[in-house]
Amino acid sequence: MHVLHVVGARPNFMKAAPVLRALAAHGIQNTLVHTGQHYDAAMSDVFFQQLEMPEPDCNLEVGSGSHAQQTAAVMLAFEPVVIERQPDLVLVYGDVNSTLAAALVCAKLAVPVGHVEAGLRSRDRTMPEEINRLLTDQLSDLLFTPSADGDENLLREDIDPAKIHLVGNVMIDTLVRLLPKAEAHIPADLPQPYALVTLHRPSNVDDLPWLRELLDTLVELSQQLLVIFPVHPRTRQRFSEVGSSSNISARLRFLEPQPYLEFLALQQRAALVITDSGGIQEETTYLGVPCLTVRENTERPITVAQGTNQLVGRDLARLRKAAAEILEGGRKEVRNPVPLWDGHASDRIANIVVRRQAWLKAR
Ligand code: UD1
Repeated sequence: MHVLHVVGARPNFMKAAPVLRALAAHGIQNTLVHTGQHYDAAMSDVFFQQLEMPEPDCNLEVGSGSHAQQTAAVMLAFEPVVIERQPDLVLVYGDVNSTLAAALVCAKLAVPVGHVEAGLRSRDRTMPEEINRLLTDQLSDLLFTPSADGDENLLREDIDPAKIHLVGNVMIDTLVRLLPKAEAHIPADLPQPYALVTLHRPSNVDDLPWLRELLDTLVELSQQLLVIFPVHPRTRQRFSEVGSSSNISARLRFLEPQPYLEFLALQQRAALVITDSGGIQEETTYLGVPCLTVRENTERPITVAQGTNQLVGRDLARLRKAAAEILEGGRKEVRNPVPLWDGHASDRIANIVVRRQAWLKAR
């Protein structure tokens, strides 16, 4: 059996790595296609190294652009690859533009698609990722969900229950495997306590007056504790537009985007994480680290219901208050672990793929 995997952007890599391994252990032939949506070494190459992923078999080198440009560029470059390689199944990951573009190509070529991390919904269609999630799930033949709310969302959208498989969280597979290694990547001079911040969503960083206010709030927080902020390239561009400089405050430390192990080490030791990322909401829940999400909604409600995550929305007073409560020791009661976030989600995916081989071929 031949499975072709499509990755494109940073959050895809930690999801695909364990699935590639689990399928290889079953003797399945893997082909890895990198769309090139993320292309900086710090956003891509270093993840391949640290996650011990095979080199991509091909790189479509689509780069950046508007949503339509990026999605169309992946489709145009990916279609001939699928025709030439003739996979029995294409696996797509997460909710980035590359995910939807690849699923759409396969659906039109009648090649079976599996979506890893299916069923997540923020119910906010202003998010490009929500559009990617909704459409990818409609086009997929196998839907691998990380938590039971994903199954419920898919059933509500009339997806055939026979296609839905609750397998758990593949990103946690990677975390479980690499957490022991992350220990060695803690900077020697790291003072305690500190807050860790990441922001890259257009809703936070493309709205410049709001970004300015957010930065002012972080400067204020940095009077209480060190604030460490690895800066995504999109956010870095916006910083230059709001006139922020790297020495805005001695205790607000901007870093380059961090490799996987370094960032995991930073998360694990943080007193508090402030983010708008999806994956970090899940990782902090697993690690038991308090997380404040600067968004009005989340496609990962289980991290709020059962984990350490709190949504603070676009409300800086709420952000300040929640941060103060955490720093005073008011940690949220958590009901960990989330079922099936156990390091074996990718094994479950591999078993299902093997079991459904004949069905995939006959489809
Ligand atoms: C994409 C995903 C988002 C995910 C994020 C993780 C979509 C719609 N968005 O957002 O869901 O959370 O990746 O990082 O797919 N850039 C670089 N170097 C790179 C990549 C990007 O400088 O290697 C800059 C470019 O100026 C680019 C901008 O970052 O225009 C945004 O990149 P893009 O891939 O469009 O979206 P992200 O914001 O990274």
